[in-house]
Amino acid sequence: MKKVSIIGAGNVGANAAFYIGEKNFADVMMIDSVEGRAKGKALDLMEAAPARVYEAKIDGSDNIEDIAGSEVVVITAGHVRKPHMSRLDLLESNAKLIDPIIGQIKKYTPDAIIINITEPVDALTWYILKKGSFDPKKVIGMTGVLDTTRLREFISKELQVSTANTTAIVIGGHHDYMVIIPRYATVEGIPITQLLPKEKIDALIKRTREAGSEILSYLKTATAHYAPAAAIAEIVEAIVKDSKRVLCVSTCLLDEYDIKDLCLGVPVIIGAKGVEKVIKLLLTLEEKQQFDESVAVIRSAVETLEL
Ligand code: 2OP
Repeated sequence: MKKVSIIGAGNVGANAAFYIGEKNFADVMMIDSVEGRAKGKALDLMEAAPARVYEAKIDGSDNIEDIAGSEVVVITAGHVRKPHMSRLDLLESNAKLIDPIIGQIKKYTPDAIIINITEPVDALTWYILKKGSFDPKKVIGMTGVLDTTRLREFISKELQVSTANTTAIVIGGHHDYMVIIPRYATVEGIPITQLLPKEKIDALIKRTREAGSEILSYLKTATAHYAPAAAIAEIVEAIVKDSKRVLCVSTCLLDEYDIKDLCLGVPVIIGAKGVEKVIKLLLTLEEKQQFDESVAVIRSAVETLEL
């Protein structure tokens, strides 16, 4: 089986390893700087294999050299928000924390596709890409997949329909100004604008924007990890299986949407080569204005980063 490495064996990393193992499409190597943490969790996950019936091998190490040979490397290492913090408050400390990791990925598995989860995702995905001089199509930020999954769940509960019938698109930044376009959210292709009144739609949009903070308000010392981990597994699966999934992720735009050299969330086709095509959405003037505001938040964050 192909190899996927996950750097950071915390809540997000370990759950992503679990979901990938359960889906049985890749072996997983978890890496963590805390001695024994990755190995202990890997052993625990493998001891679940007989009950959960997966053949994937999940291993753990505190030596980052063990990422060698990975097709995909997932970066989950980093500080997480505390209540009343914004994701952008983590920019400086997390940039410092992932700095050495960028060099180690470059050294041990330079051709891997990188998926970044370390917050703030859009700005640090750009930072990883630039600092490591990687192929722009092979550095992906896990953003919109999480936000669309949440919105799909909220739509299905509101309309009492299966989540299998819901679709959504979230673009721009993975932050409070993420852009949710109701006409692109559907139940089996029917736009929710035909199914729900505006005030209900506005409430769903608000809840999606604030979903990360809502969970943090309950957990207090941890942020969301099951849904982020599930979103990671979706992206990894699309790469490893070359399935050409259309997913909303943070990618470096090279001129699409009239934006150059910035990572932000748009719908893309994901396959074995990473981001294989950026899909250009038609936006109304109001949607474009929201998009530009969302992009401006990322650009101002990126401008504070020293390469
Ligand atoms: C979230 O939205 C952690 O940013 C992540 O929950």
